[in-house]
Formats: sequence, C-alpha cells, structure tokens
Amino acid sequence: MTDTTAHPSPLLTPTTLGRLALPNRVVMAPMTRLRADTRGVPRPLMATYYAQRAGAGLIVSEGIAPSERGRQYLNEPGLHTEEQVAAWRPVTAAVHRAGGRIFAQLMHAGRNGHPLNRRDGGTPEAPSAVPLTNSVHTLTAKADPVVPHAMTAAEIGSTVADFAAAARAALRAGFDGVEIHGANSYLVHQFLADGTNRRTDAYGGGPLGRARFAIEVTEAVADAVGADRTALRLSPGNPENEMSETDPAPVYRALLAALDPLGLAYLHLTDDPVYPALADLRPRWSGTLVGNTGEHEETTLASAERLLRDRGVDLVSFGRPFIANPDLVDRIAEGAPWAPVIGTDHHYSTGPEGYTDYPTATRPQVPA
Ligand SMILES: Cc1cc2nc3c(=O)[nH]c(=O)nc-3n(C[C@H](O)[C@H](O)[C@H](O)COP(=O)(O)O)c2cc1C
Repeated sequence: MTDTTAHPSPLLTPTTLGRLALPNRVVMAPMTRLRADTRGVPRPLMATYYAQRAGAGLIVSEGIAPSERGRQYLNEPGLHTEEQVAAWRPVTAAVHRAGGRIFAQLMHAGRNGHPLNRRDGGTPEAPSAVPLTNSVHTLTAKADPVVPHAMTAAEIGSTVADFAAAARAALRAGFDGVEIHGANSYLVHQFLADGTNRRTDAYGGGPLGRARFAIEVTEAVADAVGADRTALRLSPGNPENEMSETDPAPVYRALLAALDPLGLAYLHLTDDPVYPALADLRPRWSGTLVGNTGEHEETTLASAERLLRDRGVDLVSFGRPFIANPDLVDRIAEGAPWAPVIGTDHHYSTGPEGYTDYPTATRPQVPA
C-alpha cells in the first residue's frame, strides 16, 4: 500500500456539477447489468449494488429504456411505467442514504433493438433502414438482426417526447438528473453517424442535419427537468456495433455549438483512436466535461489522472474498475490496490454473483 496522503490524487478534489456539490471527481460510468425483471422493473438487488458504490462523486446508472420501443433487452430497466418509477425509488433512496448522487442514463436502442427483446414484439426504429449484420443477444439465444424501420418525422417527434417524459419520470423516481446516451451506437449516435443516417430530410444530410435529433432531444430534456440536471454522453468515432462516421469533427462541432449555450450539467466524452474527441472538442465546450478513456483499454489511476492533467477534463468516469471495486474512491485515497473483474460472465447475468459480492479493501469478506 502506498502512502498517498502526502500527494493526494487530483481526482479527490471536490467540485460542483449542475446544482450538486461533489466530494470528488470520480464518476461511476453507466454500465448495463440487466438485473431488472422482464417488465423493466428494477429489483431490490440493484439498490444494494448502487449504494455500495455511493462513494463516487456521481453515479451514472446503467442505460435505461425511455420507452418500450426504445428497449434493447427485456431485463433492462425502464422509466416509462409507474411501476418502474416506483421500483427505482428505493434504489435512488439507498444511494442518497449512503451519501451519494445518481443520474439516470436514458438509452434508446434504435437499430440495436430486436422484436424478441420487446414485450410488444415491435420492429426496431432507426434513422434509416440500415440493419446490423451481426447477431443480436436475446434472453434465450442469439437471433438474426432485423431491418429497422426508418423513423418518420412524426415518430422522431414522439421519440423526442418520450425522452422528455422519461426525464420527468427520472426525477419522480428520485434521480438527481439525467444523462442522454448519445454514445456507443445507440439511437442518438445512429443519427449522428453517416453510416446509419442516410436521411436527406432535416434530420440527415450535412453535419447540422445529423446533429438535429441530438439537439432536439437535449433541448426537450433540458426543458423538462432543467439544463443543470441534463447531461449528454458522446463517443465520436466509436466503431462499436458496426458504427461508421466518415468525418466526425464537423458533426460534433455543430452539435456542441448548439448545446454549449444551454448550460448543461455536463458533457460526457469518450476519446477514441479514430478521432481525438477530447483534444478537438474541449476548447469548444465551456461547461463541465467528464472524460472517459474508452473501452479499448480499461481505465487506470494513471490514465484517469492524465485525462485531468493533459486533456482538460473536470471529472473522469470509471466503468470496469467500479464493477470489482465498490469502494474505488477509498482505494484511490488509501493507495490500495484495485481488484480485477473476475470473468465477464456476470456482466449481464441475473443474480448477485459478480454484482454485489465484490468485497471492499477494508472488508475483504464477501458481503452476505
Ligand atoms: C458491462 C458494461 C456495460 C456497459 N454499459 C454501458 C451503458 O449502458 N451505457 C454506456 O454509455 N456505456 C456503457 N458501457 C461503457 C462504459 O460506460 C465505459 O465507457 C467503458 O467501460 C470504458 O471505461 P472503463 O475502461 O473504465 O471500463 C458499458 C461497459 C461495460 C463494461
């Protein structure tokens, strides 16, 4: 164990984010864990999981469906029924009781969805009818992808409204704010990327057209819950799930030019080898910036501190380290080693294994 008290990590400096005072700059990154029931209703185990991680300056929840048609998986939680809202309340209350803060990540699957992953069996909706070629995970097996339905202007309008309604539901459920998932191949990203957005109407074509859906969703959510409770996550150039962006810079610059004046709680940005988003976009964003190193390499203390020092980010989000280290902030403060994730089988399984059974550094026994 190293003595870090003489040189405490800059990650441990307090800061503010929207209307929240944070004790540190360590954000728990959104991570889908699929522990809800098949109606998208959160289960009590999720309260334990998030409360264990309440030492984070901010927790961003796993991706949450803003509507049934935006669902990616059956056992992904939602925020579009009153039963779901009621079941989230003990989760957010447990985090608050443990001294933490939590935003809800609103995640619309777009073309990543599948009829077998929706209770209504509907066809996924996307900017254009461009299907995935790889198979899609369902609860029971892998399934062939389906061709998504290209959204009409009216469907785009009602989807924007769904995001705003889910944001209001998030506040009723006790969340401190919402993060719109505009990253990692989900619907908002599909609009931004020319590989998936072949539209020639106002929501496609040039950079501003492709940014329009992201702008409308963000404005609608900010109107619904306040800009200082609204955040947006972006991963420009991320090729996950067969995404392709020929020239990301003009699109993301147009997007930030429209959103910077709104005064959002934060922008959450992932760097990618394809496009150095942090270097290009930091000067174009005057608000709070949360950085993430991306999925190609798991975040370490050194890489996180580099983002703060060299990339001008204000906070850093950690994904996988938070799976295995519920007390990650204490470990940073004490210079304690970080536990590795034991296998990835439990990322998306149903029970407490690999979810709520990781011990802390000072309590090495697995919690009962
Ligand atoms: C199991 C798992 C689930 C994830 N689910 C989401 C998600 O729901 N929403 C999202 O924006 N990113 C998701 N991510 C990406 C993480 O937020 C993060 O960007 C990524 O893991 C890289 O950070 P890390 O190196 O600290 O893990 C997920 C990552 C993992 C490992």
